Amino acid sequence: MNDNTTNQLQRPVDDPGLEPHVPSWVSTNPHADKHAEGRVVVAFAVSALSALASVVTYFAIPLGIQIEIGPFHSDLHNVIFGTTMGLAIFLIGVGAITWARNIMSDEEIVQERHVPYSDEQTRTDAMVMLSDGVRDSGVARRRFVMGSLGGALGLFALPLVVTLADMGPWPTGRKRAQTIERTIFAEATPQKPIRLVNDVSWKPIKAADVEIGQLINAQPENLENYHGVEYQQQKAKSSIIVVRMDPASINIPASRKDWQVSGILCYSKICTHVGCPITLWEQQTHHLLCPCHQSTFDLGNSGHVVFGPAARSLPQLKLSVDTEGYLIATQDFTVPVGPSFFERDSRNDFKEGDA
Ligand code: FES
Repeated sequence: MNDNTTNQLQRPVDDPGLEPHVPSWVSTNPHADKHAEGRVVVAFAVSALSALASVVTYFAIPLGIQIEIGPFHSDLHNVIFGTTMGLAIFLIGVGAITWARNIMSDEEIVQERHVPYSDEQTRTDAMVMLSDGVRDSGVARRRFVMGSLGGALGLFALPLVVTLADMGPWPTGRKRAQTIERTIFAEATPQKPIRLVNDVSWKPIKAADVEIGQLINAQPENLENYHGVEYQQQKAKSSIIVVRMDPASINIPASRKDWQVSGILCYSKICTHVGCPITLWEQQTHHLLCPCHQSTFDLGNSGHVVFGPAARSLPQLKLSVDTEGYLIATQDFTVPVGPSFFERDSRNDFKEGDA
């Protein structure tokens, strides 16, 4: 197959070539060029202002102010913060597109296919073309455009950094003691105990009504004083299970003799592995099985882990009865409930062999 045949196969039709380049109106009209540049600068400048407005919004508008627009309702803080952030990034796009379409060179260039490597001359030519491209884009000449783009991009990053504050608060010892290491059982005292109520009926639980082998999902009665997000947060920590076993069939350490009422014991319902709520109860073995990753706790032995990935016993709550026979708590859990966390102090957790 000779060269002519090869060329015919590769190019079945004649190369039509490029239309002669017609300079754009902007490239031949200095006034239009200035006007286009101005639009780009305005887009970037308003973007920067929008980013700043979102930062101001973040601090100035408190969470919790609800607005309603037709069928939609949302939090004013989120609406304004999202709108200003969205506007900031939208205007960076508008500025970039306006710049590319109106200011940059629109001359078409043909690049012939070639072998993957380049010879010295080609590389030199490429560098010349690159320099020409940089010159045509006006990057060096148009200082205002570059400055405004730098400002818009820089300030757009600011709200992203500011929102990192939402990952807080910083978990100092004091902050932990007020939040993840505390449940609302801490509001109970021996003089002002808190009754345990059924999680479904919300009725106080009478010790005499709990049968051997029974498990009841329960909450502290004071949970009804909380509402909205705070209700959910407190419920997530204070959810408990109440179980009754034959006292003769379980191991009650001396240090926990007065934590139970005739074999009725109370434990946190939150798995110590990664926090699933647990209620799969096996009456005969006294085992409680977590459905998430099969951690198994022995409720007849202070919530000790007998199987699975959980590393800590299920926290137990000290129980008593009031003068009317209802189950009450007079103090908080002695250890934080729920999954482990980096700073958690595990010294008070129940371990096998504890007396
Ligand atoms: S959350 Fe319970 S075993 Fe993983």
